Amino acid sequence: MPSSEISDVLAGRRRGAIMQGDCLVDGRQIPDGTVDAVIVDPPFGIRYRGQNNRQRALLNDEQPFVWFLPEAYRVLRPGGSLICFCQWRVMEDFRRPIQLAGFRIMNCLIWDKGHGGMGHTGCQFAPRHEVAWFAIKGRFRFPGRRPADVLPHRIVPPKRRIHSTQKPLSLMTDLIDSVTKPDELIYDPCCGSGSTVVAAVATGRRAIGMDLDAEHVAAARHRLKHEAANKASDQSVE
Ligand SMILES: C[S@@+](CC[C@H](N)C(=O)[O-])C[C@H]1O[C@@H](n2cnc3c(N)ncnc32)[C@H](O)[C@@H]1O
Repeated sequence: MPSSEISDVLAGRRRGAIMQGDCLVDGRQIPDGTVDAVIVDPPFGIRYRGQNNRQRALLNDEQPFVWFLPEAYRVLRPGGSLICFCQWRVMEDFRRPIQLAGFRIMNCLIWDKGHGGMGHTGCQFAPRHEVAWFAIKGRFRFPGRRPADVLPHRIVPPKRRIHSTQKPLSLMTDLIDSVTKPDELIYDPCCGSGSTVVAAVATGRRAIGMDLDAEHVAAARHRLKHEAANKASDQSVE
């Protein structure tokens, strides 16, 4: 039985909801085939601790967090799509579970961050990209013009982040515009600070976000309330 907030988003009585919960359990409230796109930045399983190593660890980041994928497939309608961020080291750990869940992988997207982390300065190319798998359920068609597979968007500067792995709203808006139409429903089962939901609502979509971490949920709800009304550009809202 969906919570009243989820029911309201499903029925179009409200645009966005951020739920606190385990997407593997609480995500079951979302009925089969009701979501148009799942857009998610799950824990990559790399024990990420932020650029300066002082930020607290992400929950469930010891192993690539792939367990939500069958649920993502279940809630998607036929013709819906999945965008799942990951990192070059763990790409293969995500590829097979995406396929086993039932999806057809169509692209590996590249997010060009402009500049990035340090890495090993003497023996590693300076890292400035992240990857995302784009996969579909059944027959999918882009709602507008065909998007390119490289997305250049500046990262949120560390001092302005409220989540250690916060995605820029301009990137999320670009992805949302590429794969959904206004009024469609987007689900982010690991929403962190709510970037997907804020960008979705700001671009006239409906969205449900979920996160296990109460602190992230509070931050995401605050952003949804105060930022989604603004136009989703990094200048105006971050
Ligand atoms: C990489 S972060 C997402 C950051 C987000 N893209 C943003 O812009 O803020 C992954 C999130 O997954 C959450 N998470 C981990 N296990 C979860 C679970 N079982 N259910 C829901 N969320 C979970 C973590 O708390 C973390 O905030």
